Amino acid sequence: MDAVFCKPSMSNKSDPKDIRFEDCFPKTVLVVGGGGREHAIVDALARSPQVGKIYCAPGNAGIGLVAENVPLKDTDVEGLKAFALEHGVDLTVVGPEAALAVGIVDAFRAAGLKIFGHTKEATAIESSKEFAKRLMEKYGVPTASYKAFSDYNEALSYVSSRPFPAVLKYDGLAAGKGVVIAQDLSEATKALEDMLLDHTFGAGRVVVEDFLTGPEFSFLCFVDGSRVYPMPLSQDHKRAYDGDKGPNTGGMGAYTGLPFITEEDRWFAYQEIMCKTAAAMVAEGKPLSGVLYGGLMKTPQGIKVIEFNARFGDPETEVVLPLLESDIYTIFESVATGVPAPDTVWREEVTLGVVLASKGYPGSYQKGYEIQGLDQVDGIVFHMGTAFREGKLVTNGGRVLMVVAGGPDLAAARAKVYEEVRKIGCDNLFYRNDIAHCAFE
Ligand code: AMP
Ligand code: GLY
Repeated sequence: MDAVFCKPSMSNKSDPKDIRFEDCFPKTVLVVGGGGREHAIVDALARSPQVGKIYCAPGNAGIGLVAENVPLKDTDVEGLKAFALEHGVDLTVVGPEAALAVGIVDAFRAAGLKIFGHTKEATAIESSKEFAKRLMEKYGVPTASYKAFSDYNEALSYVSSRPFPAVLKYDGLAAGKGVVIAQDLSEATKALEDMLLDHTFGAGRVVVEDFLTGPEFSFLCFVDGSRVYPMPLSQDHKRAYDGDKGPNTGGMGAYTGLPFITEEDRWFAYQEIMCKTAAAMVAEGKPLSGVLYGGLMKTPQGIKVIEFNARFGDPETEVVLPLLESDIYTIFESVATGVPAPDTVWREEVTLGVVLASKGYPGSYQKGYEIQGLDQVDGIVFHMGTAFREGKLVTNGGRVLMVVAGGPDLAAARAKVYEEVRKIGCDNLFYRNDIAHCAFE
């Protein structure tokens, strides 16, 4: 890396005597992943006065305008490690769970590289539903009651003895397809056959849990052992079409400023769910060192955990990180090195984001359609699945773009975001018109 004149402003320390020699150089960061979530992370890093160079592997067309894309897969741990060593990367930030689950953090740490993300062991909070349920039961974190099975007949007889709908969860990573809400015994039988006899997702167990009702929301926190730094709450829209109709997707939009959550709810979710879970992971010898994502539900019996993820949510990150006023590099580095970070500061606004997806998504869809009008958009556009072909920006994935706008309230943010979305021209994109609908009902 080229030496630069010592610029104390690059450091997060306010007292010059606390500034270390290494704080005086712009940092080189590698972000792992290539979707809208990673674009939002790259964008937040680009706002840090400490950050000089950002690489993103594999990145996408939009990310490539801010960072240098690196043609390596997110699970190519050896390739990424070699790249980080060769290019003097000061800090690596991991987006996708697949990279965490194959042990990228353990491998980087063993090589003496600083990395933000959980160890393979700690990622069990997402990769094993049964581990997460056992942890919550042991430490009194509120969640639906459950039983786990590896035997098909035992599972079927338990499900038959319980009321419907029944919630059946494959115990492992199943690309978002491992949860079945069975409305009757025939649907449950089919799902149990798939999971326990045909091993559609692999040879895992199945968690059967009680069906809960209420609005769902996402609580993302930076977690370093038992230190938990909360982010603003958000809500995702998983169904493809307006009115929460159609198939489940990776998420068609999100917003912050949830109208149905009180300050008391937020405090309960922070203390009784997020902090307790972080402390439980420390007690189990699996301390967290990245993002803990609580998929929570406000049920008539109080807030409960539906699932945990060990990473930033997508598309939640795209509406949450634009509100961050603090320096994200400081947060990432503090968590990666296990030192306390200053309190995080967030803008008082709300944000709302709409995903533009390829027609046909989440089923089959075609790529390669030209996208026009982005230069007219006054606001944030995160790229989820785009590429440059022969000098043109084209669609290159199921979810393609996410337009995000902020405002003093959701009505203002919603009016602004749809005004901007309409400026984007492409023959093969669709979007939902009702993001944040529950705030307007
Ligand atoms: P998960 O992958 O565990 O988040 O489950 C996917 C979706 O299934 C959740 O976002 C919920 O909408 C639904 N779900 C999961 N568990 C339950 C439950 N116990 N009760 C009701 N719905 C659930
Ligand atoms: N928004 C859902 C997820 O990130 O898993």
